[in-house]
Amino acid sequence: MTKTILTGIKTTGTPHLGNLIGMYKPALELSKVPDSKTFYFLADYHALTTNKSQDDYRQSRYEVAATWMAFGLDPSKDIFYAQSDVPEIFEIAWVLSCFTAKGLMNRAHAYKAMTQENIDAGKADQDININMGVYNYPILMAADILTFDVDLVPVGKDQTQHVEIARDIALRFNSHYGVEGFKLPKAHIKDEGAILPGLDGRKMSKSYNNTIPIFEDSRKLKKLIFKIKTDSTLPEDPKDPDDSTLFQIYRNFATTGEIETMREKYQYGIGWGDVKKQLLEVVERYLEKPREIYNNLIDDRDKIDQILQEGAVKAREMAAKKLNEIRKIIGIK
Ligand code: ADP
Ligand code: TRP
Repeated sequence: MTKTILTGIKTTGTPHLGNLIGMYKPALELSKVPDSKTFYFLADYHALTTNKSQDDYRQSRYEVAATWMAFGLDPSKDIFYAQSDVPEIFEIAWVLSCFTAKGLMNRAHAYKAMTQENIDAGKADQDININMGVYNYPILMAADILTFDVDLVPVGKDQTQHVEIARDIALRFNSHYGVEGFKLPKAHIKDEGAILPGLDGRKMSKSYNNTIPIFEDSRKLKKLIFKIKTDSTLPEDPKDPDDSTLFQIYRNFATTGEIETMREKYQYGIGWGDVKKQLLEVVERYLEKPREIYNNLIDDRDKIDQILQEGAVKAREMAAKKLNEIRKIIGIK
């Protein structure tokens, strides 16, 4: 049986090494699973819940699209589109919202955390940062998934609740009508080890302002890598690799042999400057080919638009079929 795999990335900001290791790379590896059908998309309307600057919005859409392709997405094989180009998804989102208990949305982590932050800051519910888009976010995400009869959704741990919500809503719809209108999806969670630390040692994240953008030019990349926080142990002191931000990043870009050698060096003594130099080398090597593809694409927005349009035609054909089935089940048709 063919497995359908789907995942999306919000188009907010510039993709960083954490996104690469935690998201792009494992998601693209799944396209190699034999007998699989893969959907990758830009969750551009999801980005509108937070990103309100027109220029940033546009820029991020192209950066995310070019990043997908730089790391091996093949638009002739994978179905690749922007969510905003498939209007059927939004109609299905409305249908799903009518089968979603309000209480289920109240329990969604992101909304709950933002509400708590507002309460702590003494801000009222009127604050626009918690807009209805934030509240409905999980329903739109459920529509992204349920529209395409998806089996597996590769996501980070932070997103598993959203996939469970999609299942809950699908179940409610199916049991109401007594038919399998929507297929029940499963989250495919990446292993814990995949969390990449950022410049300050905390999880690399745009919200912490500690990221290393993937396609920064070589000079800036070097500057950032040399900015990664280290402690004051001397070169000759033994160091614990598992407690080192530099090593945690290094191990994602180096070969098995290089990782072993680096572990030994930590034990017998190596200066932080040397580790940074070697980290820069393996990251540069890893990025060499993707950077070439990325740089060629990022200035050719017409080409990216065209690829996304072609993908949207394929996605829409499937989405329209699903929407038709759902309309029949509801009794609109
Ligand atoms: P940010 O925290 O920078 O805003 P996003 O929330 O846009 O990043 O991240 C999208 C996906 O990328 C997440 O669901 C997660 O799977 C992955 N990701 C983000 N940061 C990291 C990280 N530091 N290490 C591993 N994966 C990450
Ligand atoms: N919410 C996801 C994130 O922030 C992005 C996303 C939107 C998504 N729709 C999706 C992921 C559907 C998987 C499937 O990372």
